Amino acid sequence: MNDRIIQDIAAEAGSSVIPMRWEKGCFYLLDQRLLPAEEKWIKYTRARDVAGAITDMVVRGAPAIGITAAFGMVLAAREASGLEGREFLEHWDREAAYMVKARPTAVNLKWAVQRLSRVAAVAVQTGVTGREVAEVLEAEAMAIWEDDIRGNIEMGRLGAGLIPESAGVLTHCNAGALATGGYGTALGVIRGAVTAGKNIKIYAEETRPWFQGSRLTAWELIRDKMEVTILVDNAAGLMMKLGKINAVVVGSDRIAANGDVANKIGTYQVAVLARRHNIPFIVAAPVSTIDPDMPSGDAIEIEKRAGDEIVSVCGTRIAAKGVKTENLVFDVTPAELVTAIVTEKGVLEPPYGPSVRKLFS
Ligand code: MRU
Repeated sequence: MNDRIIQDIAAEAGSSVIPMRWEKGCFYLLDQRLLPAEEKWIKYTRARDVAGAITDMVVRGAPAIGITAAFGMVLAAREASGLEGREFLEHWDREAAYMVKARPTAVNLKWAVQRLSRVAAVAVQTGVTGREVAEVLEAEAMAIWEDDIRGNIEMGRLGAGLIPESAGVLTHCNAGALATGGYGTALGVIRGAVTAGKNIKIYAEETRPWFQGSRLTAWELIRDKMEVTILVDNAAGLMMKLGKINAVVVGSDRIAANGDVANKIGTYQVAVLARRHNIPFIVAAPVSTIDPDMPSGDAIEIEKRAGDEIVSVCGTRIAAKGVKTENLVFDVTPAELVTAIVTEKGVLEPPYGPSVRKLFS
């Protein structure tokens, strides 16, 4: 089994960027820490190394993390291909527990591992060998990947309808091909609007401290021949006041049952500014990003990363030695500031409690 089908779907949709590969039982990740300076692929054959890649940001973006975790668990199953029954499941449970801890905020990680765990449990019950379980899981991980990219394209089609015919569209972080199976959620909607023939000027916030906007969003758009303008994170208010922004589209790491949206730090302030300027604030995310068991955003665990990430830029220290740091990497935008949530199953509108319940019923 290989990833040919994903490459074909992405190419047909006009995306030339796919952040992962699966070939001959090995998983490969495009090292996103090095982009755009260097395009380096890293090969993975062990589940724990895949978990490490997620923690260390080789791959990032909620859906991409979910797909990566799924293939990481396929590698876990291949490691245990000589085991059967209870012994196989003991190994599986240990690796699954390790994998879900790789990063805490994006629910897609847990969702993907749980989906594979259910398939593994059923396969083991039928008494097949570990090797055969691994084959079933490989097919399931491929299905997660294929569903993701097809879902993104559908989101792009649905979300395009919410974007004015001629518009400046602001996005934050990278919710594009690099953050997903190869097309994008927020950037998918922007790609969809461009494909629909709309006159779109794309603005990408640089997104400190990892610069997912200036390094990644800009790289993938330029690669796919789309014009993009980079802004410093602090520019959103003025750009809105000047009338240059007519819609905001962002992705999400987890959406609570009441419609509160966790996304990259800085998203909340953009949403507040959008409301102040009467600009639609649109969230695009697959159903796998909605956590129906999380009643509101208050309980979403916000990842905290090392302070080094904010006192240095590209390896050069910029802050005085001895400063304290607070490096919270996501925030929660309250549902009341969200104009619409675009999923592959339809566009959710407020009040989100009932629309989310309907989606899962
Ligand atoms: O820390 P990151 O780069 O993993 O954060 C990514 C984001 O916040 C994205 O906006 C989100 O995961 C949606 S990706 C389709």
